[in-house]
Amino acid sequence: MTFDDRVALVTGAGSGIGRAMAVAFAKAGARVVVCDIDAGTAGDVAREIGDAAVAATADIGDASSVEALVGTAISTYGRIDVLCNNAGIMDTMALPADIPLDQWERVLRVNLTGTFLVTHAVLPHLLGQGGGAIVNTASEAGIRGGAAGAAYTASKHGVVGLTKSVAWAYAKDGIRCNAILPGPTMTNIANGASFDPAGAARLGPVLALGERLAQPEQMADAALYLASDAASFINGAIVPVDGGWSAA
Ligand SMILES: NC(=O)c1ccc[n+]([C@@H]2O[C@H](COP(=O)([O-])OP(=O)(O)OC[C@H]3O[C@@H](n4cnc5c(N)ncnc54)[C@H](O)[C@@H]3O)[C@@H](O)[C@H]2O)c1
Repeated sequence: MTFDDRVALVTGAGSGIGRAMAVAFAKAGARVVVCDIDAGTAGDVAREIGDAAVAATADIGDASSVEALVGTAISTYGRIDVLCNNAGIMDTMALPADIPLDQWERVLRVNLTGTFLVTHAVLPHLLGQGGGAIVNTASEAGIRGGAAGAAYTASKHGVVGLTKSVAWAYAKDGIRCNAILPGPTMTNIANGASFDPAGAARLGPVLALGERLAQPEQMADAALYLASDAASFINGAIVPVDGGWSAA
């Protein structure tokens, strides 16, 4: 799988799965826009990659920030071939009756509206170029009700729906859109998290079944494949990358 002469934009690339994706695309020959809301980590990853990367600080949940992000990608590299909508945040595992509205809105804003905003801003460039590939990072919580709290579950089901909508709408325009569903993966997403006791008690036994942790690089490998020409007829696929957890 080679990405020579291609440009990949990865959101949430300052840490975890997004960082692994950015590094992997660069190793495969791409130039990479390393986007994160955290300027420090975006800069660190871009420096680690070297000449083939540019750091871009952006909040994917904010439309003007996203416009500036896509502007940076186009002014730096002139095109975008691959978009990895990867940035996301967890909820506190709160169940539907318990989740505070502000938590619901924050998680939906980043995970779902953010994925939409970046897609919406990048699509005109893909259409103008005659094609491209989008890989969304959803979650097992995008196909199951018991893998996270209400907000995260609803947001990731939304990402799955948006993936299929984009895949269907632009299939004849050379644009493919697929999603990976990571199982539990060694990243920083749960650092400092405080969990809702009732939700954690209900979800704990299910999550324990998925406790064989993946490495971020295993998610990046799947994303590279889906973005590559080797997957040229794969469009609208929702791909578990979980070592078999969701097969149970
Ligand atoms: N780690 C897991 O077990 C797991 C499982 C399933 C799905 N996922 C999904 O994988 C994706 C990556 O998460 P991760 O586990 O690597 O977590 P992580 O916390 O290590 O990395 C996420 C990155 O996204 C950035 N980010 C957060 N909000 C942002 C915003 N508004 N705009 C731009 N960047 C933002 C963070 O600063 C961070 O660098 C997320 O969408 C997450 O929901 C993770």
